[in-house]
Amino acid sequence: MNANIVLNDGAAIPRTGLGVFLVTDTAVCESSVTTALDAGYRLIDTANAYRNERAVGRGIRASGVDREEIFLTTKLWPGDYGARKSADAIRGALERLDCGHIDLLLLHQPAGDVLGAWKAMEDAVDSGTVRSIGVSNFDVSDLDRLLASARIRPVVDQIELHPYWQQPALLPYLAENEIVAQAWYPLGHGSKRLLGEPAIVEASAAHGRSAVQVVLRWHRQRGFVAIPKSTNPAHIASNIDIDDFALTDEQMAAIDALGGNRPMVRMPRWLMSAVMPRFRIPQLP
Ligand SMILES: NC(=O)c1ccc[n+]([C@@H]2O[C@H](COP(=O)([O-])OP(=O)(O)OC[C@H]3O[C@@H](n4cnc5c(N)ncnc54)[C@H](OP(=O)(O)O)[C@@H]3O)[C@@H](O)[C@H]2O)c1
Repeated sequence: MNANIVLNDGAAIPRTGLGVFLVTDTAVCESSVTTALDAGYRLIDTANAYRNERAVGRGIRASGVDREEIFLTTKLWPGDYGARKSADAIRGALERLDCGHIDLLLLHQPAGDVLGAWKAMEDAVDSGTVRSIGVSNFDVSDLDRLLASARIRPVVDQIELHPYWQQPALLPYLAENEIVAQAWYPLGHGSKRLLGEPAIVEASAAHGRSAVQVVLRWHRQRGFVAIPKSTNPAHIASNIDIDDFALTDEQMAAIDALGGNRPMVRMPRWLMSAVMPRFRIPQLP
């Protein structure tokens, strides 16, 4: 089952969701969200930086699925970090989404006034407009700094995570601090090389399932929350249809063995800190 994982604040997050990064055709974004909810998804992952919060909100409202069943995530961009700026940015996100509360609000990047933004997010939890708060792209030292002053602990860290990049330093720290690892680029951004790896192709043949389903099943069995992006209705349906098979210990080990020091995206920290807080992102209608 796409059963939930209980977060450290008691909320429950579905294990597989839909990501909408780079889906800037608002009609496509809206219909992908509705298609996913119709197919049984209950987790949708957007961000201020994706510019499509309004379309996500329209897709959710059009679906007819009870809002309380849906786990809606969005993220603040560093240009909006700061106690007062982030309070305004949260109000803006709530207005654009127009779906009542936000289930999970993340700091998108560890750059700029992180502690000021976190304070605004804690206040939003107190006021009930946001239910859970977390981070994205935070490493061990970023989390150490945040945990030293946070009143509310982050519930997830959304990070690049796939068979090629298994975050060896971060995962044990997250487990120790009861922070769930949520995988972005769960399919390596659709990497043909990854999907053609013999370990994945062999498991795919053994179970009669696609290579993508094998990778998503690997995430499931490793305990990660995965948010594959797709705008293709057939892909959307098959990406959540991974409950009725299980990879063997040998198949898991063979996929684990693909891991190396190979993140696909790496931005130098100095560049992140110098550039990201300087701009705010215009939103789509
Ligand atoms: N926090 C962050 O900094 C951060 C960064 C990047 C991403 N994210 C989040 O993570 C989500 C996923 O990342 P991503 O979209 O970049 O990469 P991804 O989910 O790893 O891969 C998406 C690619 O795989 C293809 N695909 C999906 N299902 C498929 C299937 N069943 N068969 C064949 N191809 C399939 C998609 O094409 P089709 O659309 O044609 O199916 C798309 O090209 C994003 O949407 C976003 O929510 C967060």
